[in-house]
Amino acid sequence: MVYISNLSDHVDEEVTLKGWVYNYRSSGSLYFVEMRDGSGICQCVVAQDAVSDEAWEQTEALRQESSLKITGTVVEDERSIGGHELQVTDLEIYQVAEDYPITPKEHGVDFLMENRHLWLRSKRQWAAMRVRNEIIYAIHTFFQERGFIQMDAPIFTGNAAEGTTNLFETEYFDDQAYLTQSGQLYGEAMAMAHGLIYTFGPTFRAEKSKTRRHLTEFWMIEPEMAFYDLVDNMDLAEDFVTFIVKRVLDRCPKELNALERDTEKLRKTVEGEFPRISYTEAVEQLKSDDMAAMLDQMVEDRKQEIEELKEEREEIKKEKGQAKKWRKAQIDQRVKEIGNRLDQIEEDLRNIPDWRESALNFEWGEDFGGSDETLLTMKYDTPILVHRFPADIKAFYMKRDPEDEKLAMACDMLAPEGYGEIIGGSEREDDLETIQKRVEEHNLPEDIFQWYLDLRQYGSVPHSGFGLGLERTVAWLCGLDHVRETIPFPRMMGRLSP
Ligand code: 4AD
Ligand code: MG
Repeated sequence: MVYISNLSDHVDEEVTLKGWVYNYRSSGSLYFVEMRDGSGICQCVVAQDAVSDEAWEQTEALRQESSLKITGTVVEDERSIGGHELQVTDLEIYQVAEDYPITPKEHGVDFLMENRHLWLRSKRQWAAMRVRNEIIYAIHTFFQERGFIQMDAPIFTGNAAEGTTNLFETEYFDDQAYLTQSGQLYGEAMAMAHGLIYTFGPTFRAEKSKTRRHLTEFWMIEPEMAFYDLVDNMDLAEDFVTFIVKRVLDRCPKELNALERDTEKLRKTVEGEFPRISYTEAVEQLKSDDMAAMLDQMVEDRKQEIEELKEEREEIKKEKGQAKKWRKAQIDQRVKEIGNRLDQIEEDLRNIPDWRESALNFEWGEDFGGSDETLLTMKYDTPILVHRFPADIKAFYMKRDPEDEKLAMACDMLAPEGYGEIIGGSEREDDLETIQKRVEEHNLPEDIFQWYLDLRQYGSVPHSGFGLGLERTVAWLCGLDHVRETIPFPRMMGRLSP
């Protein structure tokens, strides 16, 4: 089989492609069919006098998303999507599609979510899923090349890992079980057997709020390393994320282009080291005069940008009257872009006062909200690592800072451009008595945690690990503003189908 992604190996040859009609237009005796086959999109030109009467009849019956087989000669054509064009000699339909609900015109997101099973076929969604796939591949490559063993943690569990407020409960014969929130506790047991391991699986949290960063079912990658301390942990997290970003930049230029991702910004995120700041320093930054000044400056910059964009829009609209057809299309496109950007700025301007308020009133001991994370990363191009959080807002298993009992040896990675926390991790408490005390303090059932306590009884060692949220990483690398587009069939509060 020949696929569109391989057409460059078949220039001037006759090939047969199988796929679906992405788009089409006709002008008398010519049909331009944009065909997609899963691997890409190719423009196919059907000329009435180049095909049989039968094939022409079939061509005229085409509809968006009709499935078909097309034979033709591959011609290099830079102007075409994908860089090739097919000059068709034969065409055969598998099925003429009914009127397709998702036309290229704009739809509301609710409608698109209801039709997620079809929406997945559209170009941006296609590109996002390819980037997701590349990230998954990069993750396995990174760990496998470094001697980590991939091991699977159970989905049904008897214990909570990340607090008891957002557990999904389910029946388990005569018992009660939970859907796992994290594979970590099992990962720790595996690391004591294999040294370096990672889990990669679905995790579940009954998140009762609707935000653009939260799913109820998401995929997490959790490496766990025997003999790693907090610094080793942060070093690994930094290398890991750098590796993923570079791979996506290298291997997904087409997809990033379809997503209109600003790749320059992305490239900069891996040019330097990731700054590491303590939670306490982060709080100081939030409350600082510098932060207030930066926000004031931001308002000024946004206002100026509005002026410039509006001016540009006036200019090109004036030009449109006399413009050629291709230029008109370009102008329409740009006007749309400007409109989107203006909406975004307006939203920022509405939000900034709240962000400012929240940052300046932040109290040591609180957890960062989405806007605090955005502000903390704003002055950097790269992600940042925040470490040593108040123990009270972190999980029971984290080791305390030997220099300050109030602090947990935790580290979060915050992505730039407002994407927020993508990694949460820590050094683990490895002392038996201390971890027993924590289990008690957190009112966790000791009998169910007995196996976990055993790990501190039989050859306990310092160890650390972290969890990367796959969907948040996809959102960041693709430049998507909501995690619902980062997974084939998202699960969120109020969304269980399709
Ligand atoms: O910070 P979290 O809760 O950490 C853990 O679960 C640890 N047990 C990980 C470990 O040390 N092995 O979650 C880790 C990451 C977050 O940084 C975020 O990227 C993602 O998982 N995440 C979510 N992604 C989408 N929807 C949600 N509701 C998420 N909750 C967490
Ligand atoms: Mg976290």
